[in-house]
Amino acid sequence: MKIITAKDYAQLSKAACDIVSDKLKKISQPVLGLATGSTPEGLYECLIERCNMGEISFRNATTFNLDEYVGLDETHPGSYQYYMKEKLFNHIDLPIERANVPSGTDADLEAHCKAYEEKIREIGKIDIQVLGIGVNGHIGFNEPGTSFDSRTHVVELDPSTIEVNSRFFDSIDEVPGKAVTMGIQTIMDADEVVLIISGENKADTVAAFMESDVTEDFPASILKKHPNFTLIVDEAAYSKVQTKA
Ligand code: GLP
Repeated sequence: MKIITAKDYAQLSKAACDIVSDKLKKISQPVLGLATGSTPEGLYECLIERCNMGEISFRNATTFNLDEYVGLDETHPGSYQYYMKEKLFNHIDLPIERANVPSGTDADLEAHCKAYEEKIREIGKIDIQVLGIGVNGHIGFNEPGTSFDSRTHVVELDPSTIEVNSRFFDSIDEVPGKAVTMGIQTIMDADEVVLIISGENKADTVAAFMESDVTEDFPASILKKHPNFTLIVDEAAYSKVQTKA
């Protein structure tokens, strides 16, 4: 595990942007694994800026998002499809047919999950997977207790996740109770993984991550076993770690 400690959110976003930009420059047909939530917003702003300046291009890229809420389609402002269009896809030169986000509204979600995995397999592998983390250690929507062998599947969200994510909805009652998420094994199959964590409200999570054994009770802990894994944290998020690297 490599750890990059950034001074603040701006520096963290730039560090993540440098890593993703490098992949876009070096790989002829790059495959990016993308995340949602507040944390990657700065990364996406940076990628948009560089794309507009002609420094990087998504013309030959394919993207796979981690997750989506069950029941929300792309027109719902709380959906991750909506988020991705607003925060990234509408502003870059990525051919939209190569932007993959799991569907939360497919009539047969189980079949959709299998097809999503198959699509990743067909393309080969995800070259770089960007991740955020839930306060309970979830990655994607893989809540504590999820099998490390899991592939794309439908999950029941933790009450704590529903509460934390209610800030993206008008009320907590609007937050779906289920989601589709890439599995932990899907994430671990990526060639490289970057986990970005920012802010004081994630300080306990970062401390727990650093101290945790590799256990399904804390899903992100498996990343310590990934051969090409980088943790990018800002000082606020890193503030409660006892033994600093
Ligand atoms: C959601 C997403 C995760 C994300 C997490 C943290 O639950 N499914 O992929 O990492 O939120 O989000 P934030 O960056 O807003 O703290």
